[in-house]
Amino acid sequence: MSSKSNRSWTMNGFGVAHLAPAETTIPKPGPHDLLVRVKAVSLNYKDRMILDGLLMPNMTFPYTPLSDAVGEVVGTGEAVTRFKVGDRVLGHVIADWVEGEGPAVLHQKTLGMTLPGVLAEYVVFGEGAAVLAPPSLSDAEASTLPIAALTAWSALFEMAKAVPGETVLIQGTGGVSLFALQFAAAFGLKGIVTSSSDEKLERAKTLGAWKAINYRTRPDWDVAARDATDGQGVNHVLEVVGGENMRRSIEVLAAGGRLSLIGILGDTTFSSSIFPVMRNRLTIQGISIGHRRGFERMNAAIEVAGIKPVIDRVYGFAEVPRAFEHLARGPFGKVVIALS
Ligand SMILES: NC(=O)c1ccc[n+]([C@@H]2O[C@H](COP(=O)([O-])OP(=O)(O)OC[C@H]3O[C@@H](n4cnc5c(N)ncnc54)[C@H](OP(=O)(O)O)[C@@H]3O)[C@@H](O)[C@H]2O)c1
Repeated sequence: MSSKSNRSWTMNGFGVAHLAPAETTIPKPGPHDLLVRVKAVSLNYKDRMILDGLLMPNMTFPYTPLSDAVGEVVGTGEAVTRFKVGDRVLGHVIADWVEGEGPAVLHQKTLGMTLPGVLAEYVVFGEGAAVLAPPSLSDAEASTLPIAALTAWSALFEMAKAVPGETVLIQGTGGVSLFALQFAAAFGLKGIVTSSSDEKLERAKTLGAWKAINYRTRPDWDVAARDATDGQGVNHVLEVVGGENMRRSIEVLAAGGRLSLIGILGDTTFSSSIFPVMRNRLTIQGISIGHRRGFERMNAAIEVAGIKPVIDRVYGFAEVPRAFEHLARGPFGKVVIALS
């Protein structure tokens, strides 16, 4: 098989202009590896940060980006026991985190960061770093799960134990946030969604948002969210912005509330009074995607609840730069690239 070529896209410098198609040889799986023919990949905000030189400024080129992929196992190393040829699998992004506490040093084995990325026709996953794709989802839908869905799931149900009836404040309508909304709606949580767009808020309502707040017209969205809970505050916040936004997130939490710190769409530093944290006995938890066991539990839940990931648009393999440009505009849900 190594004589056939493997079409991919590589970064040959920073910026979308330096993305280019490439051809290499098909990788050879080691004894515990799976050779996977990729069917679809999806983009995450961090892929844009990598492309722009913000997340891994010292990387070397050429570099194959992206972390989220679904594909079919077309070859296995001789010691593989967990999967067989023909299985449809998803790569688990933090490859050395199976369950429990994360690795002592994170991101030493992370797909699309310290391990090669997945924007290629053929990739290799360690058998311990793959899960079966949910059968009810199409390839495009399944490709959206490894980072965005698992991050939202981990924040609500692995690192926390959200229970029906609780409120969760969900910021924006990007990939992580719409999965959080869909999980919240499916499992009896009351989702309060913020967005810059009234039109997107209307669409969020059709996905089950309990309340909708435009953070452009209500920059004091924390006050609006507290009002929506009759002054009680919210039980969970999924923070995707940072900076001043995070201060407001702390202010809006109810007694015993929990803030999941996920994203850095804004500032990476913040300043806040310590009093709400003490007075309301708040928990602030950092989220790093999640572990494989959580991924498997989430996929089972997606099957039971019949959740269909929200895809803003599917691009062809020749349209990779356009897909990145779409991501930069702020998608409603996920941007996907189909390989077949
Ligand atoms: N810690 C982790 O493990 C982890 C995992 C995944 C992602 N992340 C991080 O989480 C963040 C979101 O990632 P993503 O992939 O979901 O991004 P995305 O799909 O690109 O979503 C971007 C969306 O964020 C919303 N947004 C932007 N500024 C906002 C603000 N000030 N307040 C509220 N919403 C705002 C916008 O929604 P509207 O258009 O509706 O306003 C925009 O569409 C990124 O910083 C990413 O790096 C972290």
